[in-house]
Amino acid sequence: MNSNDVIASVFKKISVFKNIETLYPEYIPENLPRREIQLRQLAEIFKPMMLSPGSVFIRAMIVGGVGVGKTATAKVFGREIRKFASEKGFDLRYVHINCHRDRTLYEVVSEIIRQIGAPIPIRGLSPREMMLALLNYVEKHDIYLLVALDEFDYFISTEGNDAVYFLIRVYDEYSDTKKRINYIFISRNISSLSMLDPTTESYILRHMVKLDPYTSDELFDILSYRRDLAFYEGTVDDELLKFIADSKGVDKGGEGNARSALETLLLAGQAADHEGVQKVTIEHVRKALGVVHSEVIRISDDINFLQLHELLLLKAIIRSLKKKKTVFVKIGEVEDEYNYICQLFGIKPRRHTQVYEYVNTLKHMGIIEAKVSGKGFRGRTTLISITVPLNELEMKVDEVINAKKELVDAS
Ligand SMILES: Nc1ncnc2c1ncn2[C@@H]1O[C@H](COP(=O)(O)OP(=O)(O)OP(=O)(O)O)[C@@H](O)[C@H]1O
Ligand SMILES: [Mg+2]
Repeated sequence: MNSNDVIASVFKKISVFKNIETLYPEYIPENLPRREIQLRQLAEIFKPMMLSPGSVFIRAMIVGGVGVGKTATAKVFGREIRKFASEKGFDLRYVHINCHRDRTLYEVVSEIIRQIGAPIPIRGLSPREMMLALLNYVEKHDIYLLVALDEFDYFISTEGNDAVYFLIRVYDEYSDTKKRINYIFISRNISSLSMLDPTTESYILRHMVKLDPYTSDELFDILSYRRDLAFYEGTVDDELLKFIADSKGVDKGGEGNARSALETLLLAGQAADHEGVQKVTIEHVRKALGVVHSEVIRISDDINFLQLHELLLLKAIIRSLKKKKTVFVKIGEVEDEYNYICQLFGIKPRRHTQVYEYVNTLKHMGIIEAKVSGKGFRGRTTLISITVPLNELEMKVDEVINAKKELVDAS
């Protein structure tokens, strides 16, 4: 086949998808079936802010396990509440911050400033000074903010209580000003709250929206809604959705994770496309279920937020583990591999202390396991391990490295 035919055969190939991107994890759907109660709760919590903007300072929390729709619920709520505010004639902005990516107080405050497009020159300012400038800006322009801090437990453990208080007590210091910044904290569990003082903790607990893992019935409704958006009619039968829902539903022994259910549906559709057939079959679903290792999916999401050198180090860990075929590798071996990979990419490697920091970050994010060696090793050394399938993980890491490298190269 000549090149033109090769390419044309791909472009002209029929697909079961009419809008494949509506199944991508970053897509925020119009509706969230089976989260009506929680959206209503959020609306109740923020009602005083809508009725009399500026008079109350509201901090809510969304809590739930992996893939139960925390991020999606917050974003949909933010989108809708913004519309209501503008109908009522006030300017409410929704800001969504992922604390995996923006880990420090400095990054969080500057990200708020960036997302609302405030022309505040942040260079050289401390977080406190930036916050003051931000408060002035929103006052001057009569703007209200709803700031969602996603993966909030990560922020607490990186920055500690003081930083948290700095955010949730902004108005203690400026009590006579209008309360223009409100928060939604998002977390997988509430244990990190116990680090706060009892008054703050009980305030947040009273303003908590809990998302339980999805049951099979709930997942079926979600899958069928998302199928209708993504696939041509008649290409995915209900019984396939039922099959996926049953294997993921919390009442059937699954995790109740909507992300992995949707990922399975996406992969099954792609398998059908790959074979060039016009209907998704149970075999495609089975194959997809085998591939979707929920841990890899969870980690895959987090990987998007790693910095280039953290990614290179992660790749080094994967390669060392593959080479040695052991459960653990020593940090020294990983570092050699890392230096080698940096050389391949033409990038200057970071020093040992920095590399050690990266190991801690990856450990903290639950991507790797790391421990100090006990007996049986000469001297003490850090041992590193990964529990998810290495090939899948490496593919994902490579993908993100390439994307980041293009950015670096282009700048
Ligand atoms: N009720 C729902 N209706 C439609 N889609 C949903 C629903 N709940 C979750 N989803 C979809 O499932 C996927 C996972 O949801 P989301 O990212 O919000 O989970 P999460 O709780 O934030 O997970 P994590 O703890 O990993 O951050 C997203 O693609 C989201 O759009
Ligand atoms: Mg999330």
